[in-house]
Amino acid sequence: MPSIISGERPFEAPSHATCVPTHVGIIMDGNGRWAARRGLPRIEGHRRGLEALRATVRAAIDFGLDYLTVYSFSMENWNRPIEEVADLMGLLKRFIRNDLKALNKSGVKVKVIGGRNDLKPDIRALLAEAEDRTRSNTRLTLIVAFNYGGRQEIVAAARALAEDVAAGRLEPSAIDENMFAQRLDTAGVPDPDLIIRTSGEQRLSNFLMWQAAYSEFVFLPIHWPDFDRQAFETALAEFSARERRFGRVTAQAQKVR
Ligand code: IPE
Ligand code: IPE
Ligand code: MG
Repeated sequence: MPSIISGERPFEAPSHATCVPTHVGIIMDGNGRWAARRGLPRIEGHRRGLEALRATVRAAIDFGLDYLTVYSFSMENWNRPIEEVADLMGLLKRFIRNDLKALNKSGVKVKVIGGRNDLKPDIRALLAEAEDRTRSNTRLTLIVAFNYGGRQEIVAAARALAEDVAAGRLEPSAIDENMFAQRLDTAGVPDPDLIIRTSGEQRLSNFLMWQAAYSEFVFLPIHWPDFDRQAFETALAEFSARERRFGRVTAQAQKVR
């Protein structure tokens, strides 16, 4: 696999890594280009992407992560050709119908973030079923960001707080970061320590805008269908070699790690 950064630091596998993140977010990008490169239709890239997701969830369990958030469909993805949107909706349904039993058996708790109202009733019902059936699992929380937009999530939180203020239930001066975070879809979930994006693009594309304030980023030059356990380990090793300072200086930061 090609090297992911230009620095001289050698990589270590996560087994040697000192620091396994609690929460990893993944922007699963590059399905279309993976397919195009092989002369295949884009849907084939998405199908292979689903297989990569399955393997990634297994690896996340093995690595001992507590939370894995995967960006599956952005609010902006509605702007794609109608056939592709339909294919992506179909794949989500297939994932839940085929994999829910196995996810549940592996102790995975499924949580879905993003707007539900724009989704068709059958999809809404499946998402609710996935959450209900896995609610008491504790091994790994798999957060599926579907019809998700970070800015839209922040606006909805602001609106909810404004409604409370308008109704006299809340003093504006009582609003702080914690209260705001509790109104996001991710309420109660720790911020992602690491965000991985495949396909070589280096942008957030409206993923976890609030929550990523102090996330580390690893951008991989491979397309999502090619993401595997080894690529995941490479990203975790890179994360482990980073120094997170949260605004402090190095001497202080080493104590908080
Ligand atoms: C990621 O792959 C999947 C979704 C955004 C749903 P893309 O479909 O964005 O693939 P590229 O970026 O066009 O190659
Ligand atoms: C981000 O990828 C959304 C998902 C991976 C679901 P896009 O492919 O939609 O992002 P842009 O358009 O390249 O920024
Ligand atoms: Mg893309």
